[in-house]
Amino acid sequence: MKKSIRAHQKQILMPAPYSILQIEKHTSLEWNFRVSCDFPVQYGQFVEVSLPMIGEAPISVSDFGDGWIDLLIRRVGKVTDALFKLTPGDIIWLRGAYGNGYDLNQFLNRSLLIVAGGTGVAPIKGLLRHWCEHSERVKRLSVILGYKNPESILYKNELESWREKCRLYLTLEEGMADKDYYSLGRVTDRLDDIDFTDSDEMQAIVVGPPVMIRSTVDKLTMHGLKDENIWVDYERRMACSVGKCGHCRIGDVYVCLDGPVFTYSDARCMID
Ligand SMILES: Cc1cc2nc3c(=O)[nH]c(=O)nc-3n(C[C@H](O)[C@H](O)[C@H](O)COP(=O)(O)OP(=O)(O)OC[C@H]3O[C@@H](n4cnc5c(N)ncnc54)[C@H](O)[C@@H]3O)c2cc1C
Ligand code: FES
Repeated sequence: MKKSIRAHQKQILMPAPYSILQIEKHTSLEWNFRVSCDFPVQYGQFVEVSLPMIGEAPISVSDFGDGWIDLLIRRVGKVTDALFKLTPGDIIWLRGAYGNGYDLNQFLNRSLLIVAGGTGVAPIKGLLRHWCEHSERVKRLSVILGYKNPESILYKNELESWREKCRLYLTLEEGMADKDYYSLGRVTDRLDDIDFTDSDEMQAIVVGPPVMIRSTVDKLTMHGLKDENIWVDYERRMACSVGKCGHCRIGDVYVCLDGPVFTYSDARCMID
């Protein structure tokens, strides 16, 4: 059931309780929490997840559907440790959704390349599923996903269905999994396999660690992509997520409000 606008405005500031519907263990450190949800969400947005007496953490909405959102969470500290002790049926607190997210119209009838590394795959998972389900709405869909080793691969169960709908390249930095699927190296190595014939209007989404974003964007611009057609996801320390505390501020930009998705033409001017 949809919430009223007044209820949603309250939701933006006040955490509300939601139940964990399902937990899927992707790796020992990264689990997907499917959580009930009754507020509007867009691809690329994030929520603040909290547990009373423990704390709060911003987490990207990795996918969503009718009455649920998926949160792919990496266990790194206080809040995420506590989340990993929960089971389906337990309650977590959410506020949001925050941030600008992706404007899907931007990609219609264009060639789209998605490059993501490690847990950077989580924020684009829903977007990738969406374009695989509607592949006729983009000119060409190419996807490069990179992981450190076979133990860190995320979304193993989805890879086959994505492969049927897009040109999917998978890389591992070390170790080896199925050779038909994976190649050894970095995501940037696979850029040489991408068709850049329409690079002047091609769109690219790049999500991952800063060093991976930098080297990928450098190579994309060398191949002729325009800075305004390259989209990056900026993960900053956040506190309020509503433009009040300044924790996420870089110059005049509030990453929680103006981002976390930026074109590279905007992002390259944001110097810490
Ligand atoms: C917009 C946004 C989206 C995010 N999406 C996801 C997601 O989908 N899945 C996910 O697992 N994590 C995501 N994160 C990172 C997540 O918010 C942090 O890992 C989390 O706050 C850690 O909380 P904690 O209490 O468990 O760890 P803490 O005890 O606070 O910290 C553990 C360690 O992580 C470091 N750390 C904490 N926050 C960050 C941060 N923002 N960036 C880099 N290092 C940090 C600390 O310095 C410390 O070393 C996102 C962050 C942002 C800003
Ligand atoms: S997190 Fe408080 S202003 Fe952005």
